Amino acid sequence: MAAKIIDGKQVAADMRAELKAEVTELKQKGIVPGLGVILVGEDPASQSYVRAKERACEEIGIYSDDNRLSADTSQEDLMTLVEKMNNNPKINGILVQLPLPKGLNEAEVLLTIDPDKDVDGFHPTNVGKIVVGEKAFLPCTPHGVIQLLLRSGVTIEGANVVIVGRSNIVGKPLANMLIQKNSKGNATVTVCHTRTKDLASHTKRADIVIAAAGRPNTITSDMVKEGVVVIDVGVNRVEDATKKKGYRLVGDVDFEAVKEKASLITPVPGGVGPMTITMLLYNTVESAKRAAGLVT
Ligand code: GUN
Repeated sequence: MAAKIIDGKQVAADMRAELKAEVTELKQKGIVPGLGVILVGEDPASQSYVRAKERACEEIGIYSDDNRLSADTSQEDLMTLVEKMNNNPKINGILVQLPLPKGLNEAEVLLTIDPDKDVDGFHPTNVGKIVVGEKAFLPCTPHGVIQLLLRSGVTIEGANVVIVGRSNIVGKPLANMLIQKNSKGNATVTVCHTRTKDLASHTKRADIVIAAAGRPNTITSDMVKEGVVVIDVGVNRVEDATKKKGYRLVGDVDFEAVKEKASLITPVPGGVGPMTITMLLYNTVESAKRAAGLVT
């Protein structure tokens, strides 16, 4: 079976159009959703993420308060800025771009963010709420993965899902979301990681494989069954002298071979990537509606 490619750019564009219409309606009620963005240091990948976030905010009409701080910013100054955003009613969501430069305490910064403005869904309060099935901001990449599945017509309920990777940003929260007793969950979930014995024995049984390991070719065609749905969260740079930048981006999946066996598969780039920022916009709009008392 040759797979149908899931077009993440198109799904993201559809969702952004829905959000733009919602923001236009909110503005008619005098509500302007606002996102505070903090980037510390000069990591090129982080800079390009943050630029894309700012462009996306502008595109759908979200106010964006952008802060670029030097790599030698103190923990205290960073926390003071987060506190200022916590107390600023114009800001509904706060995003501190990770990873922070060495020497800064990431966990302490994330704890300082008001959980009601934690549009990344990284605060332990929101992580805990997801675990016990309470309403919370859903972390953006895992939520983007679920939206791609649902909007591609994939049945999550009852599916055997194998997640490869146990990061705090993707693997762990995604597993917690997929086992919930709700319309985005009810799956049977296995989480595999670097210490898993015989990874292929797990992935071969999967109806849905979600690769979030951060390593090219983690999933090859001999490791999946015919008709599998494959979501590739990986973004890896591999050297490529034919490219102007000297590298190209690949996922964690051997795309060319696996697509011949899968029923549905996401490409890299153009799969999960465009969804992450879209879900951040979604959470920011949701937060503005909550702050205005329009939703609970
Ligand atoms: N770094 C890589 N991905 C993310 C993300 O989704 N949010 C934040 N804050 N930092 C990141």
